[in-house]
Amino acid sequence: MEWKEVPNTSPRFVVFEGIDGSGKTLQLSWLSAWLQKRKYKVFVTEEPMRESITGHFVKIALKSKEKYPPEIYLLLFLQDRINHIENYIKPALEAGKIVLSDRYHFSTLAYQTAQGIERSKIDGVLKALNYEILQPNLTIFIDVPVEVALERIYGRTKGTVDLYEKEEFLRKVRENYLELAKEFNFLVIDGDRDPEEIHEEIVKRVGKFYP
Ligand code: TYD
Repeated sequence: MEWKEVPNTSPRFVVFEGIDGSGKTLQLSWLSAWLQKRKYKVFVTEEPMRESITGHFVKIALKSKEKYPPEIYLLLFLQDRINHIENYIKPALEAGKIVLSDRYHFSTLAYQTAQGIERSKIDGVLKALNYEILQPNLTIFIDVPVEVALERIYGRTKGTVDLYEKEEFLRKVRENYLELAKEFNFLVIDGDRDPEEIHEEIVKRVGKFYP
């Protein structure tokens, strides 16, 4: 198969963000298929990471009956992210792939501040490590009302709710995302529609970058 070079001006590192139940994972997989049909090499990835032990630490903590101080979750997400960037994202970019990540640092900024951790504390940890988070070229935020997201989650898991899937909490997370959207210039997509319609809009908005 002949692969196409990604044009220099096109986003190579693309992140999907949204509250739990926003439908971002499906949209990411459809965009990935769309790009591959156009012969772009795509690396699909996610946080917490599925294939790495750092992601397993996070998943175990999220599923645990024991609840930890918010700082513990912060550190867990950050250790997973640093591994993700160094061992997965950077090599994929260097190999000329388009990286599509389901969640990234904005999840920490939205969720851990909703857990009561100040933004300056998150930045402070990274500064103490002298570590700079690689910035994505494009962040697509799939926005859905909390009620819609919860309906999807309850339908999906038949009653069991994960740590972060509570109404008041998700409201706060969504508000945080909407603030971040302005600050970091996210592409905000209305996610309260048919998945096909959402995909069409995403292609309409970003397809031009990938001729
Ligand atoms: P996961 O089951 O992967 O959820 P989803 O399919 O919605 O992405 O669990 C990830 C959960 O962790 C989700 O509720 C979002 C939250 N999270 C944070 O709180 N901070 C982070 O930095 C990340 C990456 C995820």
